[in-house]
Amino acid sequence: MILPIVAYGDPVLKRRGEEIEQDHEGLQELIDNMFETMREAQGVGLAAPQIGQSIRLFIVDASPFGEDDEDPEAQKVSDFKEVFINAEIIENFGEPWVFQEGCLSIPTIREDVTREDKIKIRYYDREWNLKEAEFDGYAARIIQHEYDHIEGILFTDHLKPLKKRFLKKKLNEISKGNVDVNYRMKFPAQKVRR
Ligand code: NI
Repeated sequence: MILPIVAYGDPVLKRRGEEIEQDHEGLQELIDNMFETMREAQGVGLAAPQIGQSIRLFIVDASPFGEDDEDPEAQKVSDFKEVFINAEIIENFGEPWVFQEGCLSIPTIREDVTREDKIKIRYYDREWNLKEAEFDGYAARIIQHEYDHIEGILFTDHLKPLKKRFLKKKLNEISKGNVDVNYRMKFPAQKVRR
């Protein structure tokens, strides 16, 4: 089932997600629905707060990056698909790296964000195996962005104050639903709109 994606301005996006219990009701179905929702919106990552649930869950499917066969870094993540439950980033390390980010909750806005290019993370996968792993490049970037969502942080929070002030009007319009978007969204000032 495709779920509406919550738009910028909804307080759920600013809330830190709650830890999930292994017997969380409907967890597997929720994960399936999130993958379906993300694919339909052509995203590479989606976090539970973006579908209105304040829990520590996000999913990543970087395979769309792999379609760029000119870029060896993109090829590296062409089969990277994972579910992250109760994730904790243990360390961000490596080199600062500027990359243009977007977010399904903030359609039409893309901005450069600087983050370190490597991470070490601990999480449960969807079969509830505890994993500890290092990621770099695009995989690290997507995880850092989605991890921010379960911490109540948006990529626009990383922008310099001047840049953010410049975007304020556009962000306001997005929260009101005055934006062209071809997937199902829920705007804070409205009901679900197709
Ligand atoms: Ni996002």
